[in-house]
Amino acid sequence: MNQAILELREKLDQALRNMASTAGLENLKVEYLGKKGSVTALLKNMGKLSAEEKKSFGREVNELKDYVMEAISRQTAALQEQELQRELNAVEAFDMSVPPVLDRGSYHPITLVQRKCEEVFRSMGFTVEDYSEIVTDYECFEALNIPPFHPARDMQDTYYLDNGQLLKTHTSAAQNAIYKKYRDALINEGKPIKAVFPSRCFRNEATDACHENTFFQMEGVMVGEDISIANLIYFMKTMLSEVFDNYGLKVRLRPGFFPFVEPGFELDISCQICGGKGCPSCKHSGWLELCPCGMIHPNVLREGGIDPEKYSGFAFGLGLTRLAMMKYGIKDIRDLNSGSLAALAQFTDDK
Ligand code: PHE
Repeated sequence: MNQAILELREKLDQALRNMASTAGLENLKVEYLGKKGSVTALLKNMGKLSAEEKKSFGREVNELKDYVMEAISRQTAALQEQELQRELNAVEAFDMSVPPVLDRGSYHPITLVQRKCEEVFRSMGFTVEDYSEIVTDYECFEALNIPPFHPARDMQDTYYLDNGQLLKTHTSAAQNAIYKKYRDALINEGKPIKAVFPSRCFRNEATDACHENTFFQMEGVMVGEDISIANLIYFMKTMLSEVFDNYGLKVRLRPGFFPFVEPGFELDISCQICGGKGCPSCKHSGWLELCPCGMIHPNVLREGGIDPEKYSGFAFGLGLTRLAMMKYGIKDIRDLNSGSLAALAQFTDDK
């Protein structure tokens, strides 16, 4: 073997023996194989050699190149393995018998009651519908028998958007679309419309223990031939007895005004926090307005393409936020939006 090549190999072997870092190995690679490296330099002397010598010298240089590459990558792998071992040894011993801490969060109480209500209504043949949170004035008011400038609009202080649309103030805003979606099946096949549609709603309200600017409702409608207040009361009672497991709950119905129902009612339940004695959560009345409801106004049916002479129906707007407070004994509505895991995570078991 050519003397210069032999020397380079020995020099490399020695350098490798003392090399303890992968960065150093990178440098070594450049030192040998880089543009100005020692192996490249060897080739520059080739001009002086005879054709025969050139051939064997060229082969030896190529072999040297391979040798350098292989030696360096072998050493790199060995060093990486050593580093990994060092890191693993630094980690404390892993004790498989220690029970794991599974801090996985929990469902929000409103999600829990919403799912429960959906389940109950589904079991009674209702479909569960989704609808946009941003709606038009027509959907939120006009289609619901509330013309522009009607004083009834004052009941719902509304967030209007720059583009003329608005954040829906109640789930009733989806009623018109639901009627239009299902009226053909009602008219042609005699299938009653039975739908619930939960959503977030928004009103510019002063915040206190039982009011928030953002809250959750679940609207429900049933439209068909001969639907009456008796049907409304039946479905409301069934739903509440399922949600509260029939647990000491009193219900009362009193007249209430909403332009889109006639007659209209307020369905109240006895306050589950004070047991009906009166507390801040129920404005000291012992009762909580849970579910405004009523028979759908003829104008609203007509606007949805349904003949009020032939069909009738009920609608309700169940307050999911209030329902969650009553079911879980949450005293202040603001806790629900607080993001406080200590307050919210207590209901995990009830999935
Ligand atoms: N949309 C009404 C509200 O939020 C509630 C309601 C729904 C009343 C359906 C009657 C019928 O104030």
